[in-house]
Amino acid sequence: MTYQSGRHFLQLPGPTNVPGRVLRAMSRPTIDHRGTEFKELTERLLTELKWMFRTEHPVLIYPSSATGAWEAALTNTLSPGDRVLSFDQGFFAGKWATVAERFGLDVQRESWEPRRGVAAAAVTDALSADTRQAIKAVLIVHNETATGVTSDVEAIGTAMRASGHPALLFVDTVSSLGATELRHDDWGIDVTVTGSQKGLMLPPGLSFVAIGPRALEAHRTAELPRSYWDWDDQLTFNERGFFPYTPATNLLYGLDESLSMLREEGLEHVFARHARFAQATRAAVDTWGLEGFALDAGEASNALTAVVMPEGSDAEVLRAAILERFDMSLGTGLGDLKGRVFRIGHLGDLNALTLVGTLAGVEMGLALAGVPHEAGGVAVAMEILGEGGGT
Ligand SMILES: Cc1ncc(COP(=O)(O)O)c(C=O)c1O
Repeated sequence: MTYQSGRHFLQLPGPTNVPGRVLRAMSRPTIDHRGTEFKELTERLLTELKWMFRTEHPVLIYPSSATGAWEAALTNTLSPGDRVLSFDQGFFAGKWATVAERFGLDVQRESWEPRRGVAAAAVTDALSADTRQAIKAVLIVHNETATGVTSDVEAIGTAMRASGHPALLFVDTVSSLGATELRHDDWGIDVTVTGSQKGLMLPPGLSFVAIGPRALEAHRTAELPRSYWDWDDQLTFNERGFFPYTPATNLLYGLDESLSMLREEGLEHVFARHARFAQATRAAVDTWGLEGFALDAGEASNALTAVVMPEGSDAEVLRAAILERFDMSLGTGLGDLKGRVFRIGHLGDLNALTLVGTLAGVEMGLALAGVPHEAGGVAVAMEILGEGGGT
């Protein structure tokens, strides 16, 4: 492998680019995780995370990928044989449902058109058919990273509360937190799950659960086995500013820095920036004559755009050509979308010029790989980004 000049373009929908400020913060020496300095760090982080999740209630940090937080949400609130409701939103929704099945939960998998966001009415229809109130929890992926489709969690939460059904609402915000508005308390979410490697601009390795009061109440009687993931241990230690095990200290330094950066930019601005980048990307895709996977532009993700390949073209061939020639990584098609879609990540630490470079790499790659398309997508995106004042 010869040296490739310039920076690699990591335009996946996670892990995302880690800003220099975060990398530098993480390079500080590790400190005593039972000392005063560490206690101050934990207390600051746990307060700032409440701001990030828009909650008054506890947020826990685990040294794990987000899959661990899926497991924590389920095992801390449910008992063997409990029913959970899941929709075929895509690859990640399916994986969460599989984790539930492995724990002996009775998963009611509702078929769903993955090119559309889960409709609140579909959730309440399933709940009203459940006259015995056997469903204990509903699993929703806010932004399905495999499809680039966002579901209206506010509408789902509101409809669930109005239905009078007591099921808990669990929401995966792994690729939405920090890219799209999310309000844990106001939207009636009981457990919000996320990971560090996307909108939070950190390397992979941390996961989070925000826990509402109804979930804490369910926790008191939940019988699924758990030890490492147990909320009681975490909450007790966190109250004193510590963890029940050796925490990922240097990732926590990074989190401290990334939360400061999100505060400095302001969440409203962060969300508006992501929305504009998504809009510019979709305009480029339209101009190329290609199809976005999301059927409804109002449900198309602010974090990534999944692009459908024209008949006869293979997304993997395109991705390989772009990686080899332009040193850019794009997201692969996951599960049965392998080869049929590629995904352009536009979340986390990027600006208008990063996006223009990304789209230029795609447009040049389409030509290089012989994918039928029209030129001019980058120019259209530039017009939109220019109007927005750059970022
Ligand atoms: C929506 C969503 N949920 C869950 C996961 C699983 O997260 P992890 O790979 O960090 O365990 C991912 C990973 O990309 C994801 O995008």
